[in-house]
Amino acid sequence: MLSYEKLLLENKQWASEKLAEDPDYFNNLAQIQTPEFLWIGCSDSRVPADRITGTQPGEIFVHRNVANLVIHTDVNLLSVLDFAVNHLKVKHVIVCGHYGCGGIKAALTQHDYRYVLNMWLRNIKDVYRLYRDELDAIEDEEKRGDRLAELNVKEQVLHLVKTSIIQRAWKKEQRPDLHGWIYGLKDGIINTVFEMKAGSYIDPLYAYDDL
Ligand code: CO
Repeated sequence: MLSYEKLLLENKQWASEKLAEDPDYFNNLAQIQTPEFLWIGCSDSRVPADRITGTQPGEIFVHRNVANLVIHTDVNLLSVLDFAVNHLKVKHVIVCGHYGCGGIKAALTQHDYRYVLNMWLRNIKDVYRLYRDELDAIEDEEKRGDRLAELNVKEQVLHLVKTSIIQRAWKKEQRPDLHGWIYGLKDGIINTVFEMKAGSYIDPLYAYDDL
């Protein structure tokens, strides 16, 4: 059997198990989607949003990219954010990074990853620059990468606050709360790095006063 054929076989097995548990499982799911959470995570195959949070289909709206970045010209991410906040009316947006992140590690090198990846990873180098003194002082390379992964999560949450999508929702509907989390590949535990409740202080430099 070819490797991808196994996926299709497993899928059929999964679907029949679900039906055996609850004959209406798919009928119920197909009718409505009202997730309370938007998850912005890393594409890393070892960090599956639903598995590590015990959420079921329909409970969590997911966007993933390399190193869980929130980039203000990323139409993909902004569309997901807009849809989740304004149409699904999510109550929480979670940015979840992880220790041992390959994207973070790559950004810590001076290697030329060629055009497109360089563009992407440069955003992580920009985070490093903001915390250069703290990060330079960490001698252990792995620990430095892990700390950068935490700080990267914080900066991406701050990037969310800079969008008019979040600012308008905070002003008009007092939601969503923003959460910065970090997942440990070695212990499977998620810890909170940073949080901003709806209505938190917004740096006037980025705050819109005519929403
Ligand atoms: Co990663």
